[in-house]
Amino acid sequence: MSTPPREHVQYQSDAFDVGDLAATPFEQWQRWYADALAADVPEPDAMIVATLDDNGAPDARVVLLRDIDDRGPVFYTSYESAKSTQLDARPVAAGVVTWVTLHRQVRFRGAVERVDAHQSDAYFSTRPRGSQIGAWASPQSGELPDRDALVALVAAAEQRFEGRDVPRPPQWGGWRILADTVEFWQGQRDRLHDRLRFERAGDTWTVTRLAP
Ligand SMILES: Cc1cc2nc3c(=O)[nH]c(=O)nc-3n(C[C@H](O)[C@H](O)[C@H](O)COP(=O)(O)O)c2cc1C
Repeated sequence: MSTPPREHVQYQSDAFDVGDLAATPFEQWQRWYADALAADVPEPDAMIVATLDDNGAPDARVVLLRDIDDRGPVFYTSYESAKSTQLDARPVAAGVVTWVTLHRQVRFRGAVERVDAHQSDAYFSTRPRGSQIGAWASPQSGELPDRDALVALVAAAEQRFEGRDVPRPPQWGGWRILADTVEFWQGQRDRLHDRLRFERAGDTWTVTRLAP
């Protein structure tokens, strides 16, 4: 397959330089996230997270960014999923967010840790009931014989929690990526894109400009 010829896109953005950056990558990330919300970018929370399997081969999937604090981004999943099994064995991850209509990308890498159970409880309680039921019903990344099997698992979970609140399943919760490298990419005219990379240096951060 070849892709059809397309117009050569000229990105036109404001210059983006070291002086424009927030003090930490996570504050900068929140600024860009706010811009993405204001610009109605589709799926502004979508984030690709890559992990390593038992053989050291990379694996990747989309998850939803649910929090960014001064330690890094957080997403939620099943602790029994393939990604969590991989993170338990090799607790490092890399990730990418793009707000493509703004010609922006954030790339990050770091160690991971499980989110505190209270924080996972608090987030789980805000989810729609259907998602809460799904978290109990779906053995994420396990093999199913057919779709009916999944429907039956959901029906069983619905029956189990009929008439009461759905608590967080113990095998479901958050991961935080303790990003120690975070790169901000802003598309510019004539391919002179801006790339500014934060690297953690103890309690502070250094910033380096990279060639596009
Ligand atoms: C837009 C989008 C958002 C998603 N968000 C999540 C999420 O927040 N958590 C999650 O576990 N899976 C999410 N998924 C599904 C994952 O991509 C993946 O299929 C699932 O987590 C199983 O991955 P694993 O087998 O590598 O563990 C999302 C998929 C898409 C396309």
